[in-house]
Amino acid sequence: MIEVQELRKVFGELVAVDGVSFTVKPGELFGLLGPNGAGKTTTIGCISGLLTPTAGRVRVMGHDVVRDGVAARRALGVVPQDIALYEDLSASENLQYWGGTQGMRGAELRARIGEVLELTGLQDRAKEAVKKYSGGMKRRLNLACGIIHRPRVLLLDEPTVGVDPQSRVRLLEMVRAEAQAGTCVLYTTHYMEEAETLCDRLAIVDHGKVIAQGTLAELRSMLGQRDLLRFTGRFQPEAVRRALGELEGIEVVQAETDVLRLAAAEASRRLPAIFAALASAEAEVRETTLTQPSLESLFIKLTGKELRE
Ligand SMILES: Nc1ncnc2c1ncn2[C@@H]1O[C@H](COP(=O)(O)OP(=O)(O)OP(=O)(O)O)[C@@H](O)[C@H]1O
Ligand SMILES: [Mg+2]
Repeated sequence: MIEVQELRKVFGELVAVDGVSFTVKPGELFGLLGPNGAGKTTTIGCISGLLTPTAGRVRVMGHDVVRDGVAARRALGVVPQDIALYEDLSASENLQYWGGTQGMRGAELRARIGEVLELTGLQDRAKEAVKKYSGGMKRRLNLACGIIHRPRVLLLDEPTVGVDPQSRVRLLEMVRAEAQAGTCVLYTTHYMEEAETLCDRLAIVDHGKVIAQGTLAELRSMLGQRDLLRFTGRFQPEAVRRALGELEGIEVVQAETDVLRLAAAEASRRLPAIFAALASAEAEVRETTLTQPSLESLFIKLTGKELRE
């Protein structure tokens, strides 16, 4: 759906995007995570046709965005980082305008406007001028304008910046629903938690380069860090060590009569085997906690700096 190959974009002396490659499939939520100035918006601009790539190749649904830009753009919905709304117009009028630019008309457009207003929870304020809206409401309308024409490919550039937690949850639910309906979603953010909870796969970008890419589990295992498991209950330390010793890649960090700590890669996947081993050692488990290494620690390891400066 989206194919980016060795994309490069240079502004004068500045290399904003430096050989970025990734692909996003239908129904997939792909994240571009990186700090300010990493090149996220520039990458989105090259996909949406707003910017011309200096080198490399971008295809949207098989259409080259440079040679076949009109066809590529027909499939796209774009929600820009800078809110693009007409402040003097109402929500309905903004949607009418954006739908119109996408070739929608008449009853079909009216029905779809009703639908996205309901989706975004703006139906009660739909007749009011946008300048009277709160920042979060504008963000929601900005998203509504991007999806009015039911695009197959959706580009979202930091759509939750400056949005309160409640509106954020609502926005993220909408994005998830779009992907579940089969839309291919590219989502940029510098919020680690968003990337972690929302995206199926992600690329971590810094200074125009992809420094790591994969599913969350793959990125975590790249970190070489393992999940930590802590069990409380009643244990026979020797029996537990023996039983767990038969499982590969699981380290017993601590084994006492009342607490047990393990380290393992992708521990959640291995819980059934671990519980079976504990049961065979006649352990009595009362409580279990699993702590995963975070993207934050991966980012620090890869770049030597924190994501949020
Ligand atoms: N039109 C432009 N002309 C010159 N330099 C630009 C232009 N657009 C972006 N840049 C530069 O390219 C680099 C990448 O910018 P970009 O906006 O893509 O980053 P970003 O990852 O979206 O950051 P943010 O999180 O702040 O939105 C920055 O150094 C920026 O100053
Ligand atoms: Mg940006």
